[in-house]
Amino acid sequence: MVTGPDVSDEVSLAAAFTREHHEIDTAIEDFLASAETDQVLRTAPLLRAVEALRRHIYLEEEIVFPNLPPGPLRMPLMVMRREHGELWRRMDDLERRVAAPAAGEDLDGACRDLLALLETHNAKEEPIIYPHMDADLDDDERTRVRDLFESGTLPAGWVCQDA
Ligand SMILES: [Fe+2]
Ligand SMILES: [Fe+2]
Repeated sequence: MVTGPDVSDEVSLAAAFTREHHEIDTAIEDFLASAETDQVLRTAPLLRAVEALRRHIYLEEEIVFPNLPPGPLRMPLMVMRREHGELWRRMDDLERRVAAPAAGEDLDGACRDLLALLETHNAKEEPIIYPHMDADLDDDERTRVRDLFESGTLPAGWVCQDA
């Protein structure tokens, strides 16, 4: 495959956030497909995916959503925040299960539930919210989101609005 010049500086925010959705999905799917029998080794990528998803939600709620035009997006953004809250609680639960595994616990089932929630969330967020990241943020806001997207970390103790 021929690739063009590096245009990472020009990639749209919508494309970058959508790519991260897929990376998180893939990490959880890889966990489910993993044949690793050592629990610590098997769950490490899952915990990294959880961390990535928390940071993703942080960037959306703290940096992106407040800078989008209100009005027609008010209801969809409310739904997004509510679903983030549900995702957040599921992630808390997953981390608890990994930290203190109990006999007969269905960690894989909990991961499949999380994947299903992500699918319905992302299926709305990508077409309804994300186009506005490129269309309605000004240059400064876009630069700030991009910088944080590339290097920002989740502030200690931060939780999403509806967690
Ligand atoms: Fe997202
Ligand atoms: Fe989201």
